[in-house]
Order: sequence, then structure tokens, then C-alpha cells
Amino acid sequence: MTVVATQEIPLVDLRAQYATIREEVRKAIDEVLDSMQLTIGPNVKAFDQEFATYIGSKHAIGVGSGTDALQLAIRACGVSSGDEVITVSHTFFATVEAILYANARPILVEIEERSMLMDPAAVAAAITPRTKAIIPVHLYGRGVDMKPLRQIAQDRNITIIEDAAQAHGAVLDDGKKAGTAGRVNCFSFYCSKNLGAYGEAGSITTNDDRLADELRALREHGQSTRYYHPVIGYNARLDELQAAVLRVKLRRLDQWNARRREIARMYDERLRGSGVIAPEIPADIRRHVFYTYTIRVTGGRRDDLRKYLGERGIGTQIHYPVPIHLQQSAEFLGYRKGDLPVTEKVAGEVLSIPMFPELTVEQVDRVATAIREFMKAH
Ligand SMILES: Cc1ncc(COP(=O)(O)O)c(C=O)c1O
Repeated sequence: MTVVATQEIPLVDLRAQYATIREEVRKAIDEVLDSMQLTIGPNVKAFDQEFATYIGSKHAIGVGSGTDALQLAIRACGVSSGDEVITVSHTFFATVEAILYANARPILVEIEERSMLMDPAAVAAAITPRTKAIIPVHLYGRGVDMKPLRQIAQDRNITIIEDAAQAHGAVLDDGKKAGTAGRVNCFSFYCSKNLGAYGEAGSITTNDDRLADELRALREHGQSTRYYHPVIGYNARLDELQAAVLRVKLRRLDQWNARRREIARMYDERLRGSGVIAPEIPADIRRHVFYTYTIRVTGGRRDDLRKYLGERGIGTQIHYPVPIHLQQSAEFLGYRKGDLPVTEKVAGEVLSIPMFPELTVEQVDRVATAIREFMKAH
């Protein structure tokens, strides 16, 4: 993802955001450096509490990345060799990597075309006696409908683990936030995310006290107290510098998400009738936090539109060009082209256009106008 403002209108402009919080961030970083407490310390503890409160979860356990969050969550839920874990193929690679780290088998299911999110009917059809967990992915910042998944899981004692890496602050169908629906739930604070660190970071949320203790141990080599290791864990700590930055940014998350929604509405208006498929805005817009604004371009014109925008200084990205079931490293899973037709079609059409809270109305106008111009001519 392009995160530096090298284009006139980049996909994401982290410098523009930094300019609005510079003093506070520098003060927070200075305080950490003055204290020289660099691993789990006061900022990690405070951030864990503040993030748990924000999400509405009993616990949050800060870890080194979103991938760590998934890996530890999957392990803590007892997923192991021979188990099957159902997720989507239309996601970032880490969702599936984490399943493979546990030596479990990822079962990749179809998405619904309109929302581009996990299709509950496909999940129901994929259940076997070996199904141990389901990982819905709130892709692009839009919450998956959890009700049908809950029904499928409850009846069969299957664990739900949310991949909420892209959905900080999104509200789910029960009115609670993403990160409260599964037994354990995973967030990434990769720099470009709605809540992004200035390095690598992630978090796991849960209401389960026992699992929270286990996860706190797992993030620090499985130790219960210093140098006593009842289980084998990982080095998956969140560091103090990242936690200090995240604390500053968390205070602005709602305001930033609100601005993302405003921008989404502006795009929606300006792209109406243009010929591209704009992302659906849910009736309750709080369901979406627009981590990306991902349009679809049909008729094989996506790559040409991307080139056209690039030539005009407008940054774009394809989230994601190759579905996981067709990735070279996933060949051993035995999937073939044609196995997931909706996923494959969507992968050939998606295009994310600039989306970040500091985007101006003029920039939105320029992006929308350029898209309209291209679509009219092609
Ligand atoms: C859907 C999804 N899952 C997992 C991850 C992994 O997070 P990280 O890059 O922090 O390891 C990401 C983010 O990059 C993501 O977008």
C-alpha cells in the first residue's frame, strides 16, 4: 500500500495526519525515551485498558502485529493439526497464514458479491465434523453480518474468531463493535489502518478471563512470572513506543472514522451513474469505517482506469489481486481456478481509491471527476 505522499493525491497520506498530532506524539515518544521502559510497561497496560473500553470488551491484549494477534488467538482457541478453520479467500494473506501456522487446514469459502464479505450459506455448506473455528473478516472496514454465523457456530460448538484488522470502531448487527462477537478477536495497527501505529502492532480482544491470561502469557514466551514458562509461547509483545503513539491516536479514532464516512458519502454521490460499482453504504452507516473505499470496475477496464488515475497523480491499490486459494504458496491446498467464481470475479474488478480522513473536498472532486472522465471515454 502506498502510504507516503509521493503522488498528488495518494491512496493514504500519513504525513497529513501526522501534521495534526505532531506535538502530542512527540511528547508521548519523549516520555517513553526519558523513562527507557521500552517493552511491556505503563503505556502498554494503559493502552490495553483504553482499547478494551473503546471496543466494549473485557480485555485487550496488545501484541506485535495483527498477524501475531491471529496466530495467538487461533492457538489459544485450541486449534491444532487436523482441524479445519473456515475463512474467506478474498482477504489479506495473513488471515490464512495464521491458520497454517497452527497446522490446521484453511477451508476457503465464497463471498457475497454485493458486500464482498463472507457468505454465510457457503460457511454452512463447508461445515464438517473437523470444523473447529470460523474466521469472518470485516474486510475494507465493513462488519460482517454475525447473526447467521453465530447460529451456525452455536449449534455445533464451533469457535468464532473475528479478523477485525480493518474494522476499528465498526458496529456489528447487534449494535456492539467489531471485536466483541467472537470468543477472541484480532486487530492490526499496521501504519495505514484507521488506527495505525508508527511501526508494527496489533491487539486481541476477549471477554474470557482465562483466555486473556493465557494470551498475556503467550505474547511473552509463555511465561507466568518472569523466567517461569509453563507453556511455550512467542515473542509477540507490543512495545511501549507503539502503545504511546496508539494512545494518542485512539482518542481521535471516532472523529477520523466519522470523516471517512463523510468522504464515502461524497464519493457515493459523485460516482453515481459513472459506470463503476461504488461500495454499498449500509443503511446504518456505523457498520462501515471505510478503511478502504473500494470500487468495482467491470468489463476488464480496471487496470486501464488504474493507469489513467496514476498518470494524473492519483494513488490506487488493488485489495487484493490474487485470491488466497490461487496463491502460489497455497497450491498444496488443492484449489483450482474456478473453485470460487464470485471471489475470482471480484478480484479482477476491485480498485481502492484515495481514502484517509484528511482528504479534502477538492481532492475527492478531482478523483471522482477523473473516474467519470475515464468511464465516459471507455
Ligand atoms: C484482514 C487482515 N488480516 C490480518 C492482517 C495482518 O495484520 P499485520 O499486518 O498487522 O500483521 C491485516 C493487515 O495487514 C489485514 O488487513
